[in-house]
Amino acid sequence: MISVFGSQVGAEEIEAVKTVMNLQWMGFGKKVDEFEAAYSNKYGIPNFALVDSGSNALYMAVHLLDLPMGSDIIVPSFTWVSCAQAVLLAGHNPIFCDVDLSTMNVTKELVRRSITANTRAIMIVHYAGLPVEMDEILSLGLPVIEDAAHAVASTYKGKPCGYIGDIGIFSYDAVKNLTVGEGGGIATRNSDLIARAKTLRYCGIGKSGFDSAQANNSGRWWEYNISEPFIKMLPTNIAAAIGLEQLMKIDSLQERRKQIWDIYNSAFSSLSDIRTPCNTPEYCTHSYFTYCIRVAKRDSLAKHLLNNGIYTTLRYHPLHLNPLYGQTNKRLPNCEQLNEDALSIPIHPRLSDTDVEKIIGSISEFFR
Ligand SMILES: Cc1ncc(COP(=O)(O)O)c(C=O)c1O
Repeated sequence: MISVFGSQVGAEEIEAVKTVMNLQWMGFGKKVDEFEAAYSNKYGIPNFALVDSGSNALYMAVHLLDLPMGSDIIVPSFTWVSCAQAVLLAGHNPIFCDVDLSTMNVTKELVRRSITANTRAIMIVHYAGLPVEMDEILSLGLPVIEDAAHAVASTYKGKPCGYIGDIGIFSYDAVKNLTVGEGGGIATRNSDLIARAKTLRYCGIGKSGFDSAQANNSGRWWEYNISEPFIKMLPTNIAAAIGLEQLMKIDSLQERRKQIWDIYNSAFSSLSDIRTPCNTPEYCTHSYFTYCIRVAKRDSLAKHLLNNGIYTTLRYHPLHLNPLYGQTNKRLPNCEQLNEDALSIPIHPRLSDTDVEKIIGSISEFFR
């Protein structure tokens, strides 16, 4: 079965993990500092912290905004559940917002329509890695959390996605463009906030006893101040070691994604039944995380591809349709339209040319 999402690791990542294991220091340690420095340098994000998942980074981001309890936070409905869960877990209300049919991103107008008297922040998602029109969203004057889980290499008007709004998050899970196995990142232009994030991720303690002993071996280094209650989100040396190798490969991994993206665009340009993803504005860089097409006979196409050994899916099932959030009566027509006709087809660096040909062949055959 050809998988729909995927990362690529090789001998270098295996060696890096072995090295960390041979040092008998698998948990949080110096490799994490090394990864954070290398990542900050590569993407021009000076204030950056690694945590154990993108989902937890989202919760941390909402927490860091220090909003009054019970605030409304606007969240696109067409996104991963962690966006809404983070808002709820932090004691706020996710207010679901529609997305544009062609970009699959929120727009200023769609967000504006969802603003209530109690709205205190906006969470946006750079869907598939296509940047949201950030200048327009920022002009609404509310704090903005950027979910850049798909947008590791994306830029908007020369700025790295995830480092434009108030707080940004990244995901490095097993199928993301840059993987550390399971992991996430948090970024903010506010250096005090990143220092707080680094303290919070270790249960609100910050320094380990070992670090304190090295900094001050005359005191009782095993005692600590707890700055505020928080859960543990510590990343590991193993994850950071994988990430360091991935950082060296990410540009070529991105090139392969773009190559497949361009091949799909040209192969499907002659198939009038398929709507391909929109073009990227010249002032943006895309990350090509998922190639989402729109077709009238979506369910039959997905079954046809599955029968031919090609796994597809829809990222995402609109959140407002899930009874958990109590907003099923809300109508968000574009998200509901995408729920009927959108399909993510395989794109990732492990796809061979033969795989890509097979995918294009099977899709073309379906429409013949
Ligand atoms: C848009 C979006 N936000 C957040 C996440 C959560 O990231 P993680 O899987 O690292 O928890 C994901 C994961 O797929 C995602 O797609």
